Amino acid sequence: MHKFLSLVLVIALLAVSSAAFAHGAEKADKAGILVVSFGTSMPQARKAIDNLVNAAKNAFPEIEVRLAFTSNIIRNKLARERGEIIDTPVQALAKMNDEGFTHVYVMPTHIIPGTEYDEIKNVVEAFNSLKGKYGFKKLALGSPYLNSSEDCATMARILFARFANQLKNKNTGIVLMGHGTPEHIANALYSLLQIELDKISYGRFFVGTVEATPQISEVIAKLKRNKKVNKLVLSPFMIVAGDHANNDLAGADDDESWLNILKKSGYKNISTYLVGMGEDPAIARGFVEKIREMMK
Ligand code: CO
Repeated sequence: MHKFLSLVLVIALLAVSSAAFAHGAEKADKAGILVVSFGTSMPQARKAIDNLVNAAKNAFPEIEVRLAFTSNIIRNKLARERGEIIDTPVQALAKMNDEGFTHVYVMPTHIIPGTEYDEIKNVVEAFNSLKGKYGFKKLALGSPYLNSSEDCATMARILFARFANQLKNKNTGIVLMGHGTPEHIANALYSLLQIELDKISYGRFFVGTVEATPQISEVIAKLKRNKKVNKLVLSPFMIVAGDHANNDLAGADDDESWLNILKKSGYKNISTYLVGMGEDPAIARGFVEKIREMMK
């Protein structure tokens, strides 16, 4: 009898406590970082993204860091050719919610808040509209590298340091290829960066974009006004030195590449520096700083 009673008591307690857990008890806090990149399928170019992911892992060793790509073409290519599955931001956040993450810091690797960044923002806003068990206690979105004139000044200093050696030759001009976001006000940030670069080192940096303005024709017009510059260094102003850097910028076989257009415009002495900005230690430090800002 005594045995039976205590068994009933245990069962009753279990029922009460599981009900309390299912309905009332708060989930324990669990934080995560989600790095979001456009993505790349080129193994050499991937180093730049991995460098930023690793910087986040090293800075926040107690927090899990995950990676999502926005490009479905690249995601599908990686799955097909290398068997590597990388989630979209939507998939990654849904999984993190399911796995009990309560605080998620979404950190894009994007340089300007253009169309791509807007799409990530839409995803974050959509998840933030979910209340209850499918929502997060905190879901934050980090800012892109260039979001203000102060950011442009900081980036100009980073670029000046990055090309300090090449700039020692007074006849050298640094031609930077940004990605660009057409018909979007954020594209103006490239011109703001140009202004800041001119403040630090007048007439030595030439910023253009592959998809928007300033176009290569405008870069050449600016080059022609600087008669001293007869030696060029071409480099991507993108996190990843992938397809655009290797083909649209430096493609030797491509008549439309900046390399060939500049050659045709009379520049004989051209070298390339095809390293993604994501590999730059100063860019990795900035990335960590932006994550830290979100956590405040
Ligand atoms: Co592109």
